[in-house]
Amino acid sequence: MEYRELLIKAEEAMKNSYSPYSGFRVGAALITAGGEVFTGVNVESATYGATICAERTAVVKAVSEGYRDFVAIAVSSDAPEGSLPCGICRQFIAEFGKDIMVITGKSDGEIKVNTIAELLPFAFTGEDMKK
Ligand code: THU
Repeated sequence: MEYRELLIKAEEAMKNSYSPYSGFRVGAALITAGGEVFTGVNVESATYGATICAERTAVVKAVSEGYRDFVAIAVSSDAPEGSLPCGICRQFIAEFGKDIMVITGKSDGEIKVNTIAELLPFAFTGEDMKK
């Protein structure tokens, strides 16, 4: 699947965003090595701090279904040029591979493509826990 198609899936997912507090919708689409796509949206909470970002929703859905080998994640939002994952989401994505591609932008316009390692250099991983 092309990055632009994955971005369309992220844009489509945005309709399910539960964001009554910020009014800022985010959608994500994660593709596995086998081509399976898992989407996610931001799910807000009245306690604010319990809010879950779209990217982590997609990753948690995939891992819960037994998938861990990820190729790329597309992120779409209400921002005119799309959004890149927040710091916590960068760390969460990096857990599953430093080469995962992160795509954002608009499917009918310019798209940005970066590896997660570019967005989070020197991410803390299981390797860093070796005693
Ligand atoms: N949000 C995401 O879903 N992903 C990010 O990477 C950044 C922020 C959500 C969380 C919250 O619901 C809204 O965007 C505003 O921060």
